[in-house]
Amino acid sequence: MYDYIINGGKKLHGEVTISGSKNASLPILAATIISGKTTKLYNVPNIEDVKITLKILETLGCKIKRDKNKVLINSKYMTKTRIPDELMRKLRSSVIIAGAIIARFKSVEFSYPGGCDIGARPIDLHLENFKKIGVNINENSSYIECKCDKILTKNIQLDFPSVGATENLMLASVLGNHEITINNSAMEPEIVDLANFLNRAGAKIYGAGTNIIKIKGVERLKEVSYKIMPDRIEAGTFLIAGAITGGTIKVNDVVPEHIAPVVAKLRECGCEIITDKKSIYLSAGKKLKAVDIKTMPYPGFPTDLQPIFSTLLTISKGTSIITENIFENRFKFIQEIKRMGAKATIEGKTLVIKGVKKLHPANVESTDLRGGAALVIAGLSAKGKTRVKKLQYLLRGYEDFDKKLRLLGADIIREEGD
Ligand code: UD1
Repeated sequence: MYDYIINGGKKLHGEVTISGSKNASLPILAATIISGKTTKLYNVPNIEDVKITLKILETLGCKIKRDKNKVLINSKYMTKTRIPDELMRKLRSSVIIAGAIIARFKSVEFSYPGGCDIGARPIDLHLENFKKIGVNINENSSYIECKCDKILTKNIQLDFPSVGATENLMLASVLGNHEITINNSAMEPEIVDLANFLNRAGAKIYGAGTNIIKIKGVERLKEVSYKIMPDRIEAGTFLIAGAITGGTIKVNDVVPEHIAPVVAKLRECGCEIITDKKSIYLSAGKKLKAVDIKTMPYPGFPTDLQPIFSTLLTISKGTSIITENIFENRFKFIQEIKRMGAKATIEGKTLVIKGVKKLHPANVESTDLRGGAALVIAGLSAKGKTRVKKLQYLLRGYEDFDKKLRLLGADIIREEGD
């Protein structure tokens, strides 16, 4: 296990290039199964979650070649349709692979997925959708067994615009003679990226990015090359890192529109921000002000940036109220930030933060992926030596995190921990 040792209190300055999106890569990697051909993907981040997904694809029989951020996947010889339990447990989004296997083989077996502990993460919506489009599901054995003869034409209403459930349904419905309509679909940019990828390969998916998606089944998909979109959560993380250290930074290779609510809140906090077509420049305000945040499905404030933004608010003047509407257990990180002097109380799905002048260094432990990034951000702001333990969470989702921070002037090293 690794720790980060941060000698905090240094302002970040300079430019950073954002990597490909984790949350777009995972469903697109799953989608490469459907064609039974070779797919070339560019801008795939070198992170643990991608490694686990590639391992699952390999276990199923896909041939993978990887050269830095370029990945070649040949799914022609894939024959297995059971996702091994030990790999399923390592990653929440492994469930998305099930939809892709159904599309190609009309049969899949998988167990309940694992992932970060940020609240109950059921897959009921995924399974209900499968049933609605004609998939028979047997949950009585240790594996969930899904089988279908053909995908049925259906008009589906999602109870909640779940990102994963929308993606899984899109994947399962790509091939066939049917027409599926998903009402109240998730509108996240990663859904658009998945639809763009599939459409380039010959799928007929309309309306991605709106709350109604239509999928007309096609006979087959073809070989395709595709570049993954930039990671909006990584971009937001670096902007907040710039803000909390009182720095001036420019993030490149980003789609500013994707993080518009975060930019708006940073401005409200007192930061000066200039956005360009593919970059965002931030100069931290002299005095940061408290702001209120409510996490919402896209285009609302993203839950994944809540822990990181909340950390910025611990040193912003005044009282901030953060309402977490997506995951009920996403305030765990705050106990660790309190060890660094933050003042905050949790009331149900609300976090009330009373801004303090500064944080002080401490030994802290990551609780989950974005919670881990929040601790690093806190460490960058606190003058002195902070140790952030349990980096395994953070490494799931950030490519070269410490290296990129060092290029911006941070004093951060990775060290073997207990
Ligand atoms: C995806 C993102 C994650 C992000 C989240 C919300 C990936 C790999 N992960 O996760 O980073 O935080 O969207 O933007 O893309 N729910 C159910 N039943 C279901 C499915 C979901 O009740 O079958 C609930 C969840 O418990 C949660 C809410 O719906 O409360 C949102 O979950 P969802 O949008 O599905 O998130 P993920 O796809 O898991």
